[in-house]
Amino acid sequence: MAQFPLPPGSTLGILGGGQLGRMLALAAARLGFDVAVLERDADSPAGRVAAHTIVGPYTDDAALRALAAVASVVTYEFENVPAASVLALKALGVDVAPGPEALAVAQDRVAEKQFLNANGAPTVAFSAASTPEEAVAATLAMGAPVLMKTRREGYDGKGQRWVEHPADAARIFAELGGVPVILEAPADFVRELSIIAARGRDGATAIYPLAENHHENGVLRRSVAPATVTPALADQAERIAMRVLQGLDYVGVVGIELFELRDGQLLVNEIAPRVHNTGHWTQDGCEVDQFEQHIRAVAGWPLGPTEPHARVEMLNLLGDEVDAWAKLAQEPETRIHLYGKRDAKPGRKMGHVNRVKSL
Ligand SMILES: Nc1ncnc2c1ncn2[C@@H]1O[C@H](COP(=O)(O)OP(=O)(O)O)[C@@H](O)[C@H]1O
Ligand SMILES: [Mg+2]
Repeated sequence: MAQFPLPPGSTLGILGGGQLGRMLALAAARLGFDVAVLERDADSPAGRVAAHTIVGPYTDDAALRALAAVASVVTYEFENVPAASVLALKALGVDVAPGPEALAVAQDRVAEKQFLNANGAPTVAFSAASTPEEAVAATLAMGAPVLMKTRREGYDGKGQRWVEHPADAARIFAELGGVPVILEAPADFVRELSIIAARGRDGATAIYPLAENHHENGVLRRSVAPATVTPALADQAERIAMRVLQGLDYVGVVGIELFELRDGQLLVNEIAPRVHNTGHWTQDGCEVDQFEQHIRAVAGWPLGPTEPHARVEMLNLLGDEVDAWAKLAQEPETRIHLYGKRDAKPGRKMGHVNRVKSL
C-alpha cells in the first residue's frame, strides 16, 4: 500500500480516458505526478496528456495488473467502474479512492436514495420495480406522473422516461430494456443547483459555493456560480454535503445534484463520486479547482482553499459548437477548455468555456 502523502514523482492511475480524466491528469501533472490511464481507446482525451495509457476494458485482468504495476493509487473519472475491478486492484495492493462503498451507492439509484435518506439527506419519494407488473403497481401506488429511470448506467438524461398514466408503465418498462428501475415522484423544483465537495484522507473537508445549472434534453448546457442563494440555503446544502462525505467515509471530490423547491427546501437528485461537469467553473473561479482538489485528496495531500475569486458562467460546447473556438479565443473574458476529441458528433461534449466576471 502507498504511503501518504504520496510524493511527487509517484504514478497515479485513472480508470477512464474521457475529458474528466484528461483534466484530472493535467492537474496531477502540475503537482508533479505521472498519470497512467486505463482506457479501451488507445487515443483517448486523457491518454494523450498522460505518461502511460494501458489499453483495455476495466474488467481485463492483465490491464488491471499492468495498472497496478505502475500506479500507487487509482481513482476514476466515471462511476460505472465494475466493483470487481476495484476489488481486483485492492487485492493487488493498490488503494482505490473514492472507495467501493461510494461506487456501490452511486451506481444504483435505489441504493443511492436509501443511503441519502438514511443519512438525513432528503430526496423525492421513490419505489423500485423489477418486473412490468411491479412497475404498474408502483405507478398506481405513487400516483402518475412518475419518472421511471433505469437503476443503473443512466447518464445525460438517458435511460429515463416520464410515465403519465399507470397503463403506460409496463410498455415504458419494456422500452427501457426490461431492467430494474426506480420510479421517482416529480420534483417540483424552481432551480437545479449542485454542490461540489471534497474530503481528504485525514477527514478534512472542503466545500465549494453552489452552482446553478441549466439542462437541455437531459444534458448540462450552462452553469452559473457562485449561485445567488441565501445563507440559509447555502447552509442546507453544506449540511447535505457533509452528510454525504461522512456517510461514505469519502476520499476525493463528489458532485451532488440538488433540486431547490419553492419553499426553499433542497432535495438531493443524485451524487457523482467524481469530479463533475457542474464544477468546471472552479477552474477559473476558485483558488484551487475541483481537479486539483481531487488529486490532492486521493494523494493524501492537504485540501486546498475553495474560495471563489470570480463569478463564472460555464457553457458546454456540444458537437460542432466547438468550431467557434477561434471566435471564442478573441473574447478576453472567456477561458477555453477543449478535450481533444477527434470527432464532433452531435451533442457530444467537446469542450467548455468559462466566462469570467467579477464577483
Ligand atoms: N424526480 C424528478 N423530478 C423532476 N425532474 C427530474 C427528476 N429526476 C431527474 N429530473 C430531471 O432530469 C435530469 C436528469 O436526471 P438525473 O437523475 O440527474 O439523471 P442523469 O444521471 O442522466 O444526470 C435532472 O437534472 C432533472 O432536470
Ligand atoms: Mg444528473
